[in-house]
Amino acid sequence: MGEELFLSLMPDFEALEGQRVLVRPYREEDAPALFEAIEESRAHLRPWMPWANEHQRLEETRDWINRQRAAWLLREMYSCTVLERANGHLVGGIGLKPHDWQARVFEIGYWLRATATGQGYMTEATQLVTSFALTRLQANRVFIRCDERNERSAAVARRLGFVFEGCLRNESVAPDGQLRNTLVFSLTPADRWQAAH
Ligand SMILES: CC(C)(COP(=O)(O)OP(=O)(O)OC[C@H]1O[C@@H](n2cnc3c(N)ncnc32)[C@H](O)[C@@H]1OP(=O)(O)O)[C@@H](O)C(=O)NCCC(=O)NCCS
Repeated sequence: MGEELFLSLMPDFEALEGQRVLVRPYREEDAPALFEAIEESRAHLRPWMPWANEHQRLEETRDWINRQRAAWLLREMYSCTVLERANGHLVGGIGLKPHDWQARVFEIGYWLRATATGQGYMTEATQLVTSFALTRLQANRVFIRCDERNERSAAVARRLGFVFEGCLRNESVAPDGQLRNTLVFSLTPADRWQAAH
């Protein structure tokens, strides 16, 4: 039996600033940029993200953002946009999902628009969010899961020192309808970790 937690009072942030990226909660006015990023990236997102065919209208994206903002207040999900610091350009999204507040277990998920890959932006954003979880939220476990075939996603976790824990066989159905094997990576406070440049 742990002490009672008042979730809306758990730590959050206005922005996490890295060298090149800024991670912050979505605002309704991000909708056009988010819509455009998804629209131009559907082919790149479709193999991995079950929502790649959603956001067919700007209103849907605005509504999605507002629901993410509600989830943020309740600390059900810390859903963030990733922006290039130099120019405010929206490059992708990252989410920190609390799985178990008593055990302090959190999952990170991410995506980049197709034109923003290959520059280290998601590694930096994931480092910022992981730091927030380990320090401010006192996470005992931060984990990342991905399709075994998603080498670029696994590389983000590996690059930051997340520890490979195993492969869950036939764990779920991928967006292409095939059964997928899922890789699991995690960090605990006992692990040494850092972004490798
Ligand atoms: C997963 C995903 C975000 C990874 O994108 P990414 O561009 O490989 O990741 P990063 O932004 O961290 O960039 C790393 C790349 O930039 C390069 N890079 C350049 N400068 C860098 C820097 N300063 N720091 C780190 N990497 C740098 C790295 O070498 C690496 O390239 P490589 O794979 O060719 O070696 C992207 O592929 C994606 O959006 N996929 C579709 C959605 C998805 O699969 N999400 C995950 C679901 S589990």
